[in-house]
Amino acid sequence: MPSRFQVPRGTYDLLPEEAAVRRRILAEARALAEGAGFGEIETPVFEDSDLFVRTVGEATDIVSKEMYTFEDRSGRSLTLRPEGTAPVCRAYIEHGMHKLPQPVKLWYWGPMFRYEAPQAGRYRQHSQAGVEAIGSDDPALDAEVIDLLGHLYARLGVSGVRLHLTSIGTPESRREYARELREFLLRTGVFDEEQKHRIEQNPMRAFDWEDAQIRKVTEEAPKMLDRLTDGDREHFEEVRRLLDGAGIDYDIDPRLVRGLDYYTRTVFEFRSDALGAQSGIGGGGRYDRLIEQIGGDPTPGVGWATGLERIAQAMEASGSTGAAATLSSNGDAPRFLFAVTEPAARQRVFRAVSELREEGLGATMDLGDRSLKSQMKHAARTGVPWVVIVGPDEWSREAAVIRDMSAHR
Ligand code: HAM
Repeated sequence: MPSRFQVPRGTYDLLPEEAAVRRRILAEARALAEGAGFGEIETPVFEDSDLFVRTVGEATDIVSKEMYTFEDRSGRSLTLRPEGTAPVCRAYIEHGMHKLPQPVKLWYWGPMFRYEAPQAGRYRQHSQAGVEAIGSDDPALDAEVIDLLGHLYARLGVSGVRLHLTSIGTPESRREYARELREFLLRTGVFDEEQKHRIEQNPMRAFDWEDAQIRKVTEEAPKMLDRLTDGDREHFEEVRRLLDGAGIDYDIDPRLVRGLDYYTRTVFEFRSDALGAQSGIGGGGRYDRLIEQIGGDPTPGVGWATGLERIAQAMEASGSTGAAATLSSNGDAPRFLFAVTEPAARQRVFRAVSELREEGLGATMDLGDRSLKSQMKHAARTGVPWVVIVGPDEWSREAAVIRDMSAHR
């Protein structure tokens, strides 16, 4: 039945099998985050547009090209959130969370919206799970959130992830470094007009460009990591000592560029070789100035977010989605299937199903007008553990045959 409607470009439908994998991912994320003292927070999917302009940054791709911005009926400019950190920080201020014991640890999950060119692993609506630890600049917190994310991938059986790590210091030292880098890059004469324009805006972006000649130039360029202030360097060294002590492997990557302007000091990204071009499976860092940028008292913070679609894709590549589907169907799928071949029994069986449900025992009734044989086949395929058969004979005796399906596998 062809329809003239399809999902909007860059979006997808999450079908039951994929939803089972998603549930498993979220169950692990929740268990890890809550086990580490992060409480759940849910913010709206849209916010005042200015919240993102001020924090993610006007010159970033996200703000300048990718936001879903609209005016509501009273003329307010709203934006479908492209990320979750700024909204969580807004909520921190709005609910006076600075009065709580610090750091305040929050985790969240939900859809994010970015008008990007769709490709494998890149969507216009994607979902993230994330954590934010707000109110302390202790390097132990940076190490803790990094460790959590590493554990999440490990528990989900995602293999082949590498942690890339660097420090980008404070905005002041970065401004000075940007001037130095800009001059260095523009002196080389390898960039076209468009690239020069982008270098004027933010020279760090050049580290992301693939062209071989540009790569060579940026290899030789000065690195922010060599321009850190003493305080920033000590902070980074402590993060590293903690990770080293815990046996957490990482690559120092002074070329690492994150697509958001609010970062200070530690930034990191986990990449998976199973993902192809969109290899970033999760990333984050410190954002010690964000809260004051949106009107709060100066308050440091650190966190990460990870793409749920990319995790599922990496799980698939690592061969761990099958187990996820089975696991979660053991949890939530019906325990009893009523196979009914006596039409007169349908009402009574329907009531029985409802009663079982009330007892918390998942049950369902095969509603198709099918033969017992095909109902049994269906039951075997869905993996339901018990089938309750009610045919004319059983019905006349007010009885039922209960079949243990594990004996038939
Ligand atoms: P981000 O790196 O922009 O960081 O996004 C986090 C993750 O979301 C990425 O690593 C990727 O897995 C996934 N992702 C991003 N864009 C897309 C897309 N178009 N399609 C599919 N997946 C995507 C942030 O958003 C920060 N808020 C992270 C953070 C939290 N930093 C500090 N706290």
